[in-house]
Amino acid sequence: MDMHSTSLFLLALIHLLVHVSAHDFLLPAEKTVVWSANHLHPVYTWGSRVELDIHGTMVVKDYNGQIAWTNNVSSSDHADRAQLLDTGNLVIKGKGDAILWQSFDSPTDTLLPIQNITVATKLVATQTLLVPGHYSFHFDDQHLLTLFDDEKDISFIYWPDPDINIWAKQRNSFISTTIGVLDSSGHFLGSDNLSFTSSDSGPGIVRRLTLDYDGNLRLYSMDNNGAWIVSWMAYSRLCYVHGLCGKNGICVYTPAPTCTCAPGYEAIDPSDGRKGCKPKLTVS
Ligand SMILES: *[C@@H]1O[C@H](CO)[C@@H](O)[C@H](O)[C@H]1NC(C)=O
Ligand SMILES: *[C@@H]1O[C@H](CO)[C@@H](O)[C@H](O)[C@H]1NC(C)=O
Ligand SMILES: *[C@@H]1O[C@H](CO)[C@@H](O)[C@H](O)[C@H]1NC(C)=O
Repeated sequence: MDMHSTSLFLLALIHLLVHVSAHDFLLPAEKTVVWSANHLHPVYTWGSRVELDIHGTMVVKDYNGQIAWTNNVSSSDHADRAQLLDTGNLVIKGKGDAILWQSFDSPTDTLLPIQNITVATKLVATQTLLVPGHYSFHFDDQHLLTLFDDEKDISFIYWPDPDINIWAKQRNSFISTTIGVLDSSGHFLGSDNLSFTSSDSGPGIVRRLTLDYDGNLRLYSMDNNGAWIVSWMAYSRLCYVHGLCGKNGICVYTPAPTCTCAPGYEAIDPSDGRKGCKPKLTVS
C-alpha cells in the first residue's frame, strides 16, 4: 500500500467512508462519498473503530463496543491486510493476493469505473442520513437493468419506460449472464444491451455512476476545476421519475422540476414537496 492509499485508508477508518481515490487528478473541494459501510448506522467520531481479524472479518464498532457493521467474512484462509485500491475498491486480501472481500460487491448508491453490477448487487438511492431511499437500480426478473420505485407494498418500474416493448427498449432479455460495467473510457455496457456513453468519453477522467436521491441515474465526470458535471443521465425530463412528488403530488416544470399539489390538496410538509399531499381540511 503506497502512502497515498495509506492516508486514504486511514481516512476511511476515521470516517468509515471511502472517497473517490483521485490519485492523479484534482480533488473537488467537497469530498464525495462513493461507498459507506454503515450509512444507516453511523457511529461516534471518538471511540469508534474498525477491526480486521485473521479470518477476514471486518467490523465497525461504536464507542461502546456495539457492532454497527460487519462484512460477514469468515475465511479459512488467513487474511493478510485490508487495502484501498486506486480504483476506489476496499479489499481484504489473503495469501497470494486472493480477495476475501471487496466493497465493490456491496455498493451503496454509486458504481465506479470497472465495478461490476451483477444479479447480486444493487444501487439504492440515499435519501437523508438514517433513512433508506425508495429508488433502486438492479436487474429485474427478465434480466434487464431497471430503475425501481420501491413503495411500501409494491415496486414500480419507471425506467426503461414500462409502456414500450422490448424491441423499442433496445434491450435483450434472452441472456443467462447478468453483468454490467462502466469502463475507464466512460462507456457503460450491460449484458442486457443497456449501453450509454459519457459526453466526454475517453480515458483519464474521474467518473461515477450514481442513483441520486431524486431517482435519476446520472453519470458524473470531474472537470478540470474538480467539479462534478453530469455527462449522461437516464432521464432528461425529471418529472417522469415515478413517485417523485409523493402521494397526490404533481411534478411541474417551472422550468426546474417542482412539486405541487392537485386542487383541494395541500403539502404534507410545506418545506419538502416530495413528501406528497393530503386533502385540505375545511374548517367550518
Ligand atoms: C451480514 O449479515 C447480517 C445478518 O445476516 C446482515 O443483516 C448484513 O446485511 C450482512 N452484511 C453484509 C455486508 O452483507
Ligand atoms: C467483473 O466481472 C468480470 C467478469 O466476470 C471479472 O473477471 C472481474 O474480476 C470482475 N471485477 C471485479 C472488480 O470484481
Ligand atoms: C443494442 O443497443 C443498440 C444501441 O445502443 C441498438 O442499436 C441495438 O439494436 C440493440 N440491440 C438489440 C438486440 O436490441
